Amino acid sequence: MRMEGKVVIVTGAYRGIGHAVSERLAGEGARVIAVDVMEGATFDSPLVEFNLMNVADLSQWESLVARVNRDYGRLDGLVNVAGVMGHHGGPEDFDIEDYEKVIAINQTGPLYGMRVAIPLMRASGGGSIVNFSSVMSTIGTWGWAAYHASKGAIAGMTMNAAVHHGPDSIRVNSIHPGLVNTFMTSGDDDFVAAAVAETPLGRIAEPSEIANAVLFLVSDESSFVTGVQFPVDGGFRAR
Ligand SMILES: NC(=O)c1ccc[n+]([C@@H]2O[C@H](COP(=O)([O-])OP(=O)(O)OC[C@H]3O[C@@H](n4cnc5c(N)ncnc54)[C@H](O)[C@@H]3O)[C@@H](O)[C@H]2O)c1
Repeated sequence: MRMEGKVVIVTGAYRGIGHAVSERLAGEGARVIAVDVMEGATFDSPLVEFNLMNVADLSQWESLVARVNRDYGRLDGLVNVAGVMGHHGGPEDFDIEDYEKVIAINQTGPLYGMRVAIPLMRASGGGSIVNFSSVMSTIGTWGWAAYHASKGAIAGMTMNAAVHHGPDSIRVNSIHPGLVNTFMTSGDDDFVAAAVAETPLGRIAEPSEIANAVLFLVSDESSFVTGVQFPVDGGFRAR
């Protein structure tokens, strides 16, 4: 029960990594406020409650956190998992509308989340925020200009927030997965094979392996860890 008594918001919880994170944290006793734009998520743990929400909408964040305050009176964690890949285009041929959508969800969404969560976390005596970046934040690949841009921005805004809110006992870290077995990577066998070939552990990750790393960062076990870019990539960047 490494999360007993803690209240944590997890975005992108309908499926994939966000779903695994919600179950993992609840399995350790956290009360999980799971959110997603897709309806009908189901969870094994009764400690997870599901809320329909678009992370790119600030007013929906404000309503969510106000309700969390009313119902639970505290907030200890925020895990910004929700994300989209967008179109494949590179610098010359990306689609502008798609670019703006990817930035709104992957980059502005987590910033909105931090903006509204931090006051309640501060009033709760501190907390831990985990923002989802990617190995693609620090390397170049072909295409995915908007995705690369958004994931690089996450690393920067995470360090900025860590510096601002260390004095509030609020820790802020970003997590940088390699390829993970989810809907996001399904159906692109060539992409997966290329990533596996570059990964020393010789495979892609399961969502539960990323959830384990989130559990460490969001729990008190990482109490002196803040402003860090935490790779969970099977050695991809080491190579
Ligand atoms: N799968 C990978 O290989 C991989 C690698 C590195 C980083 N990541 C990152 O991990 C995170 C989770 O990815 P995943 O693989 O589980 O993807 P996924 O597509 O399986 O899940 C993403 C979830 O985010 C939700 N979502 C999308 N837009 C939203 C919005 N506007 N508001 C609320 N929810 C929204 C989706 O409905 C979905 O449930 C993303 O930020 C992704 O960039 C994934």
